[in-house]
Amino acid sequence: MTSVAEISAPDAPAIRTPPVRDSAELALLSIVVPTFNERDNVRELVARLDRCLAGVAWEIVFVDDDSRDGTLELLREVSRSDPRVRFLHRIGRRGLASAVVEGVLATNSPIVAVMDCDLQHDETLLPKMLDALSTPNCDVVVASRYMENGGVGDWTKDRLLFSRVATRLADYVLRSPLTDPMSGFFMLKRNAFDQVVRKLSTQGYKILLDILLSGPGLRVKEIPYTFRTRLHGESKLDLIAVLDYLALLIDKMIGHVVPLRFIMFAAVGGVGLIVHLTVLAILNRGLGIPFVAANPCAATTAMVLNFFLNNMLTYRDMRLKGFGPLVRGLLSFCAVCAVGMLANVGIAAVLFQQKYTWWLAATAGIFMGAIWNYTATSIFTWKNVRAFKPAASNHDDATLAPRRAEPSV
Ligand code: GDD
Ligand code: MN
Repeated sequence: MTSVAEISAPDAPAIRTPPVRDSAELALLSIVVPTFNERDNVRELVARLDRCLAGVAWEIVFVDDDSRDGTLELLREVSRSDPRVRFLHRIGRRGLASAVVEGVLATNSPIVAVMDCDLQHDETLLPKMLDALSTPNCDVVVASRYMENGGVGDWTKDRLLFSRVATRLADYVLRSPLTDPMSGFFMLKRNAFDQVVRKLSTQGYKILLDILLSGPGLRVKEIPYTFRTRLHGESKLDLIAVLDYLALLIDKMIGHVVPLRFIMFAAVGGVGLIVHLTVLAILNRGLGIPFVAANPCAATTAMVLNFFLNNMLTYRDMRLKGFGPLVRGLLSFCAVCAVGMLANVGIAAVLFQQKYTWWLAATAGIFMGAIWNYTATSIFTWKNVRAFKPAASNHDDATLAPRRAEPSV
């Protein structure tokens, strides 16, 4: 078979097909690298892997979320000249964890590594990680910054503090002796990944933590390294990523009992209550507007705010966009909540008449109202018919049909 072929049509320019990808098809190690605006790091990363993985059959799969800084053009160029380089291009999507999962699923080698594109992860560790995986009793190797001989380079105090607190929290939930469960640099056997892939929540940033929480029997080893300083581009770890992380922990702790989406919906409802009372206090107590006029204003403010908060956080993955969908969404949200309010007040009144104490009657009303609001707005406002399906799996067990991801807050 020729490795370069020329195809030409009468009016079209000749197309050169690249060499057959024999080496990549037989890769022992697939390295999955999520990218978002990493133009200046792609070539350097491939060059470094080429140097440190001499003698290993490897391939690299970049997963790019539609970068606009030229990363994609560069990926096309590099992958045309090097058969070990492939990439996935995702449009309208964001998120490190889902990028990693989809990247791994696009590979077929027995060992997979995950690392960042920005050269902060020390690639010379990869051969050592491969060695560790080939020893018995090891499914996952984690590059750790927090064990002896590891380090974080020159981080700001805030970043250091966040990382420490997050690691402690993970310790508490994971109850594992891992020093760096937050690491974004790790290698694992494909069968280990296959064991957990359907349990991953694919939201957020912390994919390793999710893998370890989903596969408690996995045997893990850690190897120390020093996290390097980023030279080009900027970090994407923002407040949303922090919230994402907390959501993952909550999901893993109680997600199998109560869906994370419901917890978020209820939390937004709590914020709405505070806003309602605050606006009421300002209008009624502060400005002297009569209660009967002030209270509906306060309720409307809280409801509108709740709609936008839910649209931004709880239903981030199904966010309504554009004037028309937003207005329709807001109207249906308010209509549903009005019915919810009637249910709330009605149930509380019935229970109170039956001699339940006032707070029990009111709480039962609030609870029923919340469940109604959540279920009905799921269906009518955000068209999510699976409102109460827990986030344990990304697939419908019966049909294996993909379902929408849980929200990334
Ligand atoms: N496809 C895709 N989509 N890639 C992304 C996205 C996204 O939404 N967000 C970030 N990335 C890519 C970046 O381009 C980079 O290659 C890698 O993911 C890590 O992103 P950074 O923004 O550089 O993360 P960081 O350095 O702040 O965080 C690192 O350290 C954390 C521990 O402190 C990462 O390794 C984390 O995974 C790690 O937990
Ligand atoms: Mn980074």
